[in-house]
Amino acid sequence: MPASERDARLWLVTGGLGFIGHHLCRALLSRGDSVRVVDDYSDAPYPTVLKMRNEEELRREFPSFEVVRGCVTDRELAPRLLEGTYGVLHLAGLAGVRPSFADPARYARVNTEGTATLLDAAQRQGLELFVLASSSSVYGNATPLPAREEAPAIVPESPYAASKRSAELVASAMLRKTPSMRCPSLRFFTVYGPRQRPEMAITSFLRAILAGKPITVFGDGTMRRDFTHVEDIVRGVLAAAEKAPAGFRPYNLGSGAPVTLTELVEAMGKAASRTPTVVHAPVPLGDVDATFADISRAREELGWSPRLTLTEGLATVVRWLESERTST
Ligand SMILES: NC(=O)c1ccc[n+]([C@@H]2O[C@H](COP(=O)([O-])OP(=O)(O)OC[C@H]3O[C@@H](n4cnc5c(N)ncnc54)[C@H](O)[C@@H]3O)[C@@H](O)[C@H]2O)c1
Repeated sequence: MPASERDARLWLVTGGLGFIGHHLCRALLSRGDSVRVVDDYSDAPYPTVLKMRNEEELRREFPSFEVVRGCVTDRELAPRLLEGTYGVLHLAGLAGVRPSFADPARYARVNTEGTATLLDAAQRQGLELFVLASSSSVYGNATPLPAREEAPAIVPESPYAASKRSAELVASAMLRKTPSMRCPSLRFFTVYGPRQRPEMAITSFLRAILAGKPITVFGDGTMRRDFTHVEDIVRGVLAAAEKAPAGFRPYNLGSGAPVTLTELVEAMGKAASRTPTVVHAPVPLGDVDATFADISRAREELGWSPRLTLTEGLATVVRWLESERTST
């Protein structure tokens, strides 16, 4: 709902300088809401300079955009961040399956302790809404596909997946103290689009394809992923903030239409009007065989469904990468 049809709200967006956070902040500010971001300009899993660029661009367009440099595990800071806010959109976290093996303690601290710290402060302040960014990785390899939210999700394949699942479990237990609070946990399925994290498959592959370089596909190309465009994810976050019921409730936000890596490479070649050169490498530790979302719960309870096809979504990434190449 645009702010003109109701009172404008102040949101705390954690991790608002990251890939998804940038798009979410833009959507909120464009509809007339106010945004306070907390972000530590983390150097992982990709360089700080890209977060600074995201910040600069939002500030240029929306001078009132407020950013606090800080860590989500800071207990002193948390109550101040929440002052005057309508709700928390908690995206801050260390993303990435593979790098989580190199620093599991940092992943656990930021993703699990950070969630508990902010949620605890939100409960003490009497806030009624805490939206948690979770991940499809909580399903691991043991969940029957398409994955449904009520699956046990107890065999994570990486420290990252474990940190996200434990953040959910901690939040779910904490909600017993404030049962009227709304705490949707949104399990994002491989998000892509302009500004995607540079180490992720679609951006790194398309960059290589456009530069005429080979791309490295893990495994034999049969691994499947449920790719979801960032515009759809942002609409899903906003729908959950509006419509999620009281209590802790997980929702899959995915396309519901997984493709194999071989199909992805073919679609990327078409989007870039190039023939990709593919090199195969062993599947890294932690990568799951397939992700595939059952999205009926989000459809029924949030009125949400994805709109962009993979072809349309890839075209947005090609346009973004081409505009970057011409502006540098
Ligand atoms: N992109 C995806 O495909 C995907 C899939 C599933 C879940 N998620 C989750 O969605 C969220 C956003 O993902 P993204 O792809 O935009 O990642 P991102 O790395 O671009 O954004 C995360 C942001 O959090 C900030 N951050 C990291 N540690 C922090 C800390 N200790 N205190 C404050 N800020 C901190 C980072 O600086 C960054 O700006 C993450 O929680 C991620 O785990 C993403």
